[in-house]
Amino acid sequence: MDSSVETRIGDSLRKMRFSMVTATLLLASLNTTVLAAPNKSKCSQKTAKGNQGVVVSENGQFCLDGKPFYFSGTNSYWINQIPNDVEAVFESLQQFGEKVLRIWGFGMVESTLAEPRNPDLAFYQMWINGSWYLNTGGNGLQRFDEVVRLAEKYDVKLIIPLTNNWEGYGSMDIYNKQITGNDTYHDVFYSDSRVVESYQRYVNFIVSRYKNSKAIFSWELANEPRCNGYPAINSGKCTAATLSQWVKDQSQYIKSIDPQHMVCVGDEGFYNRPGAADYEYNGGSGLDFDANLQISTIDFGTFHLYPQSWAKKDIAAWGTQYIKDHIASGKQNNKPIVMEEFGVEGYGNKTAIYPEWLQTALDGDIAGIMPWQWGQLGLTTGGVVQYGDSTVGGASPNDGYTIYPNQTEVWEMFKNVVKTQDAKCG
Ligand SMILES: *[C@@H]1O[C@H](CO)[C@@H](O)[C@H](O)[C@H]1NC(C)=O
Ligand SMILES: *[C@@H]1O[C@H](CO)[C@@H](O)[C@H](O)[C@H]1NC(C)=O
Ligand SMILES: *[C@@H]1O[C@H](CO)[C@@H](O)[C@H](O)[C@H]1NC(C)=O
Ligand SMILES: *[C@@H]1O[C@H](CO)[C@@H](O)[C@H](O)[C@H]1NC(C)=O
Ligand SMILES: *[C@@H]1O[C@H](CO)[C@@H](O)[C@H](O)[C@H]1NC(C)=O
Repeated sequence: MDSSVETRIGDSLRKMRFSMVTATLLLASLNTTVLAAPNKSKCSQKTAKGNQGVVVSENGQFCLDGKPFYFSGTNSYWINQIPNDVEAVFESLQQFGEKVLRIWGFGMVESTLAEPRNPDLAFYQMWINGSWYLNTGGNGLQRFDEVVRLAEKYDVKLIIPLTNNWEGYGSMDIYNKQITGNDTYHDVFYSDSRVVESYQRYVNFIVSRYKNSKAIFSWELANEPRCNGYPAINSGKCTAATLSQWVKDQSQYIKSIDPQHMVCVGDEGFYNRPGAADYEYNGGSGLDFDANLQISTIDFGTFHLYPQSWAKKDIAAWGTQYIKDHIASGKQNNKPIVMEEFGVEGYGNKTAIYPEWLQTALDGDIAGIMPWQWGQLGLTTGGVVQYGDSTVGGASPNDGYTIYPNQTEVWEMFKNVVKTQDAKCG
């Protein structure tokens, strides 16, 4: 999830008016039972030595300094974009107990961009006539540096995706358009060697710049890579094999620069099970969750969950099954799973559906639970962020999924997630 493009897709799907599930779940059903701590001997002391503060993936779970690491986390794509208030956001995250924050590790603009830009906004890559330069200035990497510095200070670890499948804040399709002169086919991003080289050049700058920071949780290849973009399409040549090869090559590339930190895909967790009815299961997206999880340079699996915008009929039950399927994949492949983005729009939907989803995730020992997205009130940064996102009355951007502290019932549910996950840590 990120851009206005996705919001538009969601809007058109919502117009289909599929029937709402009979949400019988009660808010109170989010069980706060603290589960037994997993087998601690699965974390070897040896791994932790010399890697103080670095989270590793071992035997199907995360380990931090020789102890199991389970976490509650969240998403904030806008934190690098706001010039003020970054420290206030980290203070709130720490106070809440969030251990991991996913931010955008990309920010791209074209010299020809039609949309007027707020000069305060950060960008790292500026495209001019088919090539880009790195913006190391005050509205560039210095903003990123500040987020990393404060993450260290407040002991919050970062998941950093390095490009976007979608338009928002810079995308695969801009690489395609600028380098090949044509962005009709999205999957050129994965197969054209000039494009791959340009992506790697950026990856190398970012990974090298922060690889010694204890704030890095994981590098992430992309936000939601698929064979299709929007409006760019699959050329017809992109399959699960295309993406798996790309995942293998790029994860190896990152490990060659930074062997100590973890690498993940950042995908939505779609399966490649030919014959399945749903797009999310039948391979139509070009993803093969199980195959990608088996790649040795991929440390853990990610999945995203938006059954409402994916036009599912029974949102709650579909989501619960999707969570269970990913728990099973993690066990089968002996790698931890992070529920990296999820949400439903509407307060009543949140209070009705999240208890079941969260309980399913906690019961299945999902290693990291990260809703989309963190809501911060009292920001001093005003006005437009970008792509139609804005801060209004001091509230961080609201895309309908945002969870603000004044949404008390939902806020408390996630506080219970913090407690339960913390209790599983050694
Ligand atoms: C913990 O795991 C180790 C190694 O896999 C095993 O030998 C030990 O029996 C396990 N302990 C418990 C309590 O399950
Ligand atoms: C980009 O290309 C156009 C047309 O070739 C040229 O006029 C312009 O000066 C170039 N801009 C830069 C910054 O190189
Ligand atoms: C871009 O590629 C598509 C597909 O090959 C082609 O139909 C279209 O004409 C191309 N556009 C340009 C401007 O070259
Ligand atoms: C709750 O979900 C249903 C089903 O997707 C949807 O029709 C409804 O608009 C949602 N409520 C809100 C307030 O978004
Ligand atoms: C919570 O804050 C948001 C952002 O300021 C506001 O839109 C919303 O109305 C508030 N909700 C409640 C329940 O106060």
